[in-house]
Amino acid sequence: MNAAHSDTQLSPTAAVAGNVATERFRASGKTVNAHLSPEASRARVNLLATRAVRALNDIVLEERVTYAEYNALKAWLIKVGEDGEWPLWLDVWLEHSVEDVATDHRQGNKGSIEGPYYVPDAPELGPTDTIPMREDEEGTPLRFFGQVRSVDGTPLPEARVELWHADSDGYYSQFVPGIPEWNLRATFRVDAEGRFDLRTMQPAAYQIPTDGACGQLIAAAGWHAWRPAHLHLKVGAPGHELLTAQLYFPGDPHNDDDIATAVKPELMLEIAPNSAGSGHQTEYDFVLDPEPASP
Ligand SMILES: [Fe+2]
Repeated sequence: MNAAHSDTQLSPTAAVAGNVATERFRASGKTVNAHLSPEASRARVNLLATRAVRALNDIVLEERVTYAEYNALKAWLIKVGEDGEWPLWLDVWLEHSVEDVATDHRQGNKGSIEGPYYVPDAPELGPTDTIPMREDEEGTPLRFFGQVRSVDGTPLPEARVELWHADSDGYYSQFVPGIPEWNLRATFRVDAEGRFDLRTMQPAAYQIPTDGACGQLIAAAGWHAWRPAHLHLKVGAPGHELLTAQLYFPGDPHNDDDIATAVKPELMLEIAPNSAGSGHQTEYDFVLDPEPASP
């Protein structure tokens, strides 16, 4: 992560973060896909698994994969599981396409991936509060304000703006030892006009863990491990589709080659000096799509 500050933290490891992410996913309730009939589910699994297996075999045949490469793959797949890095691998290299499919019908804001570091049930705060942070939290103060509306322009006073992000060393609370439980995580209510005006600390760009299986792949392929600095958000309101998004900071050298392919032009913030205090400020409005009418 940010090498300039890495000595201020206890040592995070891929296995610690990976195993927390794995346990969080198991506890999330997302592992059960109960909305299809058994027949429809079988047909869907058959279709997707058959296509995935065929695609892998096509690569073997076209690229003339050797036994040495096949065994390296086998060892690596075993290590992904041992390091608890399946959530990380899937969220970095696959989730962005799933997110595109899930939201390409929307007329409101563009979204982005949730990633592996979300934790539900963050403390709820008012529309003008400061996110929980350490007394000596380092970084650049950030005032973040805006309005939540429906696609027809109606303000949504019952909306919630849930914000979580890395600290100025690029670390997330609950995934790295030594950081308070809800540091830089909160859900903000909005006011009667759907507005929020909150305070946080600008996050740093970070590398995904490099000492586990995902890092091994990145090194072996000669890739980089960087995600540009970003805020993670979930914005919801009754009767509207939940928006999961990330917002980015102009000028980050990895906005154009994010390892997780999660940057979109619509998600770029405009940063200005804070007119009400120190640091920066940024305004960003969220427009939510109504939930589709039930058939
Ligand atoms: Fe992140």
